Amino acid sequence: MLAVVDLFCGIRGFSEGAAQAGASVVLAVDSWASALDAHASRHPEALHWREELGGDVAEFAARVRAVVPPGARLHMHGSPPCQQLSSLKQGGDRVEGLRLVTWYLNLVDALAPDSWTMEQVPHPAVLALLRERGAPFRVLRFDDYGVPNRRRRAIAGTVDFDALRRKPAPSARSVVSPHEDISAFSALTDGNTRGRGEGPVPRSLGLVSTTVTRSHPRLLDQSRRRTKMLGLPALLALQSFPPDFSTAGLRVEDARTMIGNAVSPAVALELIRAAAGRPRSAA
Ligand SMILES: C[S@@+](CC[C@H](N)C(=O)[O-])C[C@H]1O[C@@H](n2cnc3c(N)ncnc32)[C@H](O)[C@@H]1O
Repeated sequence: MLAVVDLFCGIRGFSEGAAQAGASVVLAVDSWASALDAHASRHPEALHWREELGGDVAEFAARVRAVVPPGARLHMHGSPPCQQLSSLKQGGDRVEGLRLVTWYLNLVDALAPDSWTMEQVPHPAVLALLRERGAPFRVLRFDDYGVPNRRRRAIAGTVDFDALRRKPAPSARSVVSPHEDISAFSALTDGNTRGRGEGPVPRSLGLVSTTVTRSHPRLLDQSRRRTKMLGLPALLALQSFPPDFSTAGLRVEDARTMIGNAVSPAVALELIRAAAGRPRSAA
């Protein structure tokens, strides 16, 4: 049995892919009650701890160790929040900005799981920290793995990156059209504009979507004057969530944020597959 511990679990994008890969999610942790409730609705068998991560590493590692079933292999995943990185902008404090990333890497050292992953924005300061710590990582384009949006993330951990199976991603048009009437729209937007008064930068619906965030992509009409937000089913599909994935009980704005924050399940599935075969000594 491969037991997965999902820290900073959000709406359960990573857990979703891990479960699709055949792993058992045994513990999910987040400080956001709605995210944890959403996770519990899909993984009722897992433990759910609502708490602020970032405290005593040894104490937390001992608590995690105690919930891993005897004989199970442990995979630990963490998505320390990207928001902390905003303090890295000019004049920001790198140590504070990377506090939870550093905490998570310290936890990996303390717990020594059989395998582990961490997902981060590919900010130069994050990549520099990973190099300093000797943590193996790759910056992945999720559309290389079948995800129909241009998400790019640094993935660190004990993953055989060369074993990840690439596959073509479908076009935004084919993914969005079952959920939205797109007849009046020609393109998608990502929030960038072309210049003063020139409107949003269009991206063809025939390509994979712009990156899914809490406020984009939006449909852009033929005259390029009007945009329309996508509904949750289309956003979920662009992030590779399965059709039966429910956001019941979540406020729409919260669901948008969580979907935009998620590790796309199609990538999580590949990461678990490529991490699962490692011998204990490689962790
Ligand atoms: C990038 S999102 C995680 C996305 C998730 N991996 C997924 O695939 O859906 C980061 C999450 O960290 C949570 N978070 C932020 N600071 C936290 C803290 N100190 N302790 C616990 N959770 C925290 C947020 O509530 C948010 O749900």
